[in-house]
Amino acid sequence: MALDAERIRKDFPILESVYNGKKLVYLDNAATTQKPRQVIDRISEYYRTYNANIHRGMYAISVKATEEYVRSKEMAAKFINAGSYREIIYTRNTTESLNVLALALGEKLSRGDTVLISTMEHHSNIVPWQMLARRKGIALEYVDVAEDKSSLDMEGLKAKLERKPKIVSMTMASNVLGTVNDAKAITRLAHGAGATVILDGAQHVPHMRTDVKELGCDFLAFSSHKMLGPSGIGVLYGKEELLESMEPVLGGGDMIRSVDFQSSTWNELPWKFEAGTSNIEGGIGFGAAIEYLNGIGMDNVKAHEDELTAYALKRFSEIKGMKVHGLKGDRFGERIGVMSFSIDGAHPHDIAQVFDSEGIAIRAGHHCAMPLVTSVLNEDSVARMSFYVYNGKEDIDKVVDAVRKVKAVLKIKD
Ligand code: ALA
Repeated sequence: MALDAERIRKDFPILESVYNGKKLVYLDNAATTQKPRQVIDRISEYYRTYNANIHRGMYAISVKATEEYVRSKEMAAKFINAGSYREIIYTRNTTESLNVLALALGEKLSRGDTVLISTMEHHSNIVPWQMLARRKGIALEYVDVAEDKSSLDMEGLKAKLERKPKIVSMTMASNVLGTVNDAKAITRLAHGAGATVILDGAQHVPHMRTDVKELGCDFLAFSSHKMLGPSGIGVLYGKEELLESMEPVLGGGDMIRSVDFQSSTWNELPWKFEAGTSNIEGGIGFGAAIEYLNGIGMDNVKAHEDELTAYALKRFSEIKGMKVHGLKGDRFGERIGVMSFSIDGAHPHDIAQVFDSEGIAIRAGHHCAMPLVTSVLNEDSVARMSFYVYNGKEDIDKVVDAVRKVKAVLKIKD
């Protein structure tokens, strides 16, 4: 075993909860993850012992709050191998990070310029660019998913790059298919075409080692709440020289160096992009989550998810009428532990409801990726389970039993 899920589970108070008379089996980790007591305690400690605003304090608890907040940024920088914490901007979430980029970089685009994304994207990497397209008359182009309905069409990417897009913004791992894209190759190809490269790491950074120097990307966005940390904290990583050259999109306190009645000058990085009071407790809690994941080791996280994915694929293949979306066979390792599925004759919302009656939490719907679900998978919605460090094979066994119950309740013949 790559890690001891049973021991890890003990750190998560919520996993002791009983719902519908059953112990909670939490399998909606692509939406958000549960929090270990180390994170909960770190946040509680802040409120109990040194709650104060950062940067402005001339007193001990403010100094301590500032130090802890900066320390979490240093840990985040190290976690993705960024140059320094100056390259780590805290936002609310991945969505906000991508919106900030669409606003700040979009400012420099002109009518007729192209932004290239893919049909595999989450709405957070589609809608901000559509809004920019409407505002500035830029063209928004999509790279398709390949015929396997699972992976990115790399030849299609090369063809679209010939049109010299100014920005290429792509997901590193799909929140519906689980597919891990070759972000390093995408970055290399896009840079070769002269584009600025943004990677959406929301479903990658929590599940496998992510190294921005190795990837070579210009920007990376991800969220704390999908990697055991609190909600309301997202990361916008950017290469220092690029962040230096960008204008902030929000103005106010803390992001300035000086203000007079006519104009203002900007603070140094990363504060230039963090107007107003920060989510201090969120940042500090995020630091505890990073420490926790470092303790496990990201290669162990991926190996554990591979093991669960292989097991789930095997068990599901025994079930008639159950279709698992995404890469299978010997390509199972090219996905994270996110598994969308359909059952002939069962609506995904009914599946989720029957699962809930068994204490199993999954998500059903379009998963904020409507174009992918409706146009690529040709489904209105799909059911989705997603694993993390505290899930074990016994959770998958419970899912298999729940699928049998779905079929019994809905009178689906085997
Ligand atoms: N983006 C999250 C998901 O895929 C909310 O469920």
